[in-house]
Amino acid sequence: MNVLIIGSGGREHAIATCVAKSKRVDKIYCAPGNAGIADLAECVNIPVMDFDMQVDFAKNNDVDFVIVGPDDPLVAGCVDAFEAAGIKVFGPRANAAIIEGSKAFSKDLMKKYDIPTAAYENFDNAEDALAYLEKASFPIVLKADGLALGKGVLICKDLEEAKAGVKEIMLDKHFGDAGNRMVIEEFMTGREVSVLAFCDGTTIKTMTSAQDHKRAKDGDQGLNTGGMGTFSPSPFYTEEIAKFCQKEVYEKTMAAMKAEGRDFVGVLFTGLMLTDKGPKVLEFNARFGDPEAQVVLPRMKNDIIDVMEACVDGRLDEIDLQFEDNAAVCVVLASDGYPVSYEKGFEIKGLETFEDKEGYYVFHAGTKFADQKTVTNGGRVLGVTAKGADLKEARANAYEATKWIDFDNKYMRNDIGKAIDEA
Ligand code: AMP
Ligand code: GLY
Repeated sequence: MNVLIIGSGGREHAIATCVAKSKRVDKIYCAPGNAGIADLAECVNIPVMDFDMQVDFAKNNDVDFVIVGPDDPLVAGCVDAFEAAGIKVFGPRANAAIIEGSKAFSKDLMKKYDIPTAAYENFDNAEDALAYLEKASFPIVLKADGLALGKGVLICKDLEEAKAGVKEIMLDKHFGDAGNRMVIEEFMTGREVSVLAFCDGTTIKTMTSAQDHKRAKDGDQGLNTGGMGTFSPSPFYTEEIAKFCQKEVYEKTMAAMKAEGRDFVGVLFTGLMLTDKGPKVLEFNARFGDPEAQVVLPRMKNDIIDVMEACVDGRLDEIDLQFEDNAAVCVVLASDGYPVSYEKGFEIKGLETFEDKEGYYVFHAGTKFADQKTVTNGGRVLGVTAKGADLKEARANAYEATKWIDFDNKYMRNDIGKAIDEA
């Protein structure tokens, strides 16, 4: 079959790597893709938000199956557009992707269906939000309602910071229309875990767990980013916690979405905080996490097309989802200055070192070809992933592999997976 992947980041490179291993796949296209994905797929220069062009391309090139990677097109109805054209597509429709597209929606859903999460209030004007803060306790968490590249969350230590935060989100529109509404929620403490799960609208099957590192700098300092590195599995996500979440979070969420007439098909990403009062949901995303996908997918044993097709066909219950009994760590190589401002266009050297190395991957996030060279083209440039028999070995392997790559302004965190030592 011919497969079209929508997206251009490390997540899509990790997806493409799995798709390329499928015996069922003849040809892979990626719109728009990147310099790394181009080794596996024919990259076509179609923007992720141009659904008409994507559908036309799919029709004209006998595409049998489409996989939509990023949040923006999912929330805006990319899956609906392919479905309307009669093309098989993996991902949630817009009416289900809203679980990520509106934090107010997902909080209300959790409240209505008794899914554990932080206490909160939704606001659609700054005046009410400011009045609420006068009586609140601190620290407190402010969240822009809509999509904000993973950056629309502010943790405010006192009233003054929180007032400035409301102004930033709702009045100055720092995150654009994402800040037309906002959520104010209770501050929680605990370890964070990301759990991705395949869903067919009724059945939900979780993948192996992972932990992200969202802050830009070592010791979880600096600004929130899209993610600076991941490890999988999380040693803190015990079988007991997994069992609790299966019943109280994942199955309840699937049933809730169905009851709302919003059957969720695709990957549901649950961001959990393991608090001393039990696991609570931080957020839902409607897609693979990035860089979570870069440590989870390399450990998956199944043919990804078999699993995704079963989701679309509503027969995920037939799939025995299996992961390798090992570990993986991903260290993101970024451009110094990310997530604020950074330069692009520097040549990347050493990529070929990965070619013959079993268990090592270099996923491209922000790269492109220019003058016969692969150059940096984004804040997050590459995800260097390595497997190991256990987390410590995987971490040592991943950091060793980061040395194989060189580009000007290369920046990474040096403490990805440090939490492993406390397990
Ligand atoms: P989110 O995009 O909602 O997952 O938020 C981004 C990050 O902000 C999370 O990964 C947490 O580190 C932090 N965060 C979000 N909500 C809370 C909360 N209620 N309490 C403490 N930290 C939070
Ligand atoms: N790594 C977090 C995310 O993909 O949203």
